Amino acid sequence: MELERLTPKQFELFQKFIYERSGIKIDFTKVTLVSNRIRRRLKASSFEDFDSYYRFLISKDGSVELEGFLDAITTNETSFFRTPSNFEWFKNDYIKELLKDKLEGKRTASLRVWSAACSSGEELYSIAMCLADLSVPLRGWQHQLLGTDISESSLKLAREAVYRKRTMQELEPAKIKRYFTEEAPDQFRLRPAVSQMVRFKNHNLMQPLAELPFDCIWLRNVLIYFDRESKTKVIDNLIQSLVPGGYLVVGPSEGVYDMLGMLQKRGTFLYQKP
Ligand SMILES: C[S@@+](CC[C@H](N)C(=O)[O-])C[C@H]1O[C@@H](n2cnc3c(N)ncnc32)[C@H](O)[C@@H]1O
Repeated sequence: MELERLTPKQFELFQKFIYERSGIKIDFTKVTLVSNRIRRRLKASSFEDFDSYYRFLISKDGSVELEGFLDAITTNETSFFRTPSNFEWFKNDYIKELLKDKLEGKRTASLRVWSAACSSGEELYSIAMCLADLSVPLRGWQHQLLGTDISESSLKLAREAVYRKRTMQELEPAKIKRYFTEEAPDQFRLRPAVSQMVRFKNHNLMQPLAELPFDCIWLRNVLIYFDRESKTKVIDNLIQSLVPGGYLVVGPSEGVYDMLGMLQKRGTFLYQKP
């Protein structure tokens, strides 16, 4: 049984499969990483070699393994208030703009935010904490906060809402005290006041999202492995899901700056739909 590394031919088959299912184009320089990740799945589901595992994946019965496979392949690293400047914009400039628009009768007292590719939820919960901090000026406002991801195991963690210190480096002690209860050493559960503000669902960004449009969409640290065609598809889908005047917050590694032509640039990470 040879399980060291995918051969170029095997890599090509998995590469095509991953691309078709997620839009992620992984190139051959990542062969060791991909081999290691697939090997873990193989062991978990008792397959003897890469070929038999691949045959199962593409078979009719393989759909039961698809989620676990994509979970193993994708990178789910995230943390609370990752790239703090994005959240500074959100809780200062953006909320000020919303309140002003409401005062001038240009909008209703409601806000819809989508964390597209939310992983285990830290990004969306950080947004929820910003809104909870501003509960006085935002009194009477309705928030609808949605987090989506292709990885079911990440979504499970997001729904459980129990976190470790490792992802909480950007949280001040006062905020930890206010929004979490320490259930066990290094296990912090988000208080319902925040966890109940959000909902999560499984969604592949390559497809349009069947939801009402959003005022603000966060797309950060997800498109790094996507090829140009897939990035364009994702961006088109997101723009469709933005209300006119809505904002798109992008991460530093998305590589989509030349695909956002129909949006107005408002900052290094920020674009607005006219
Ligand atoms: C590194 S995490 C980013 C989490 C968060 N946005 C942040 O910036 O910290 C990338 C996430 O993208 C998700 N992902 C990858 N391809 C996807 C796709 N086609 N549709 C939806 N989510 C996808 C992965 O499952 C992973 O949870």
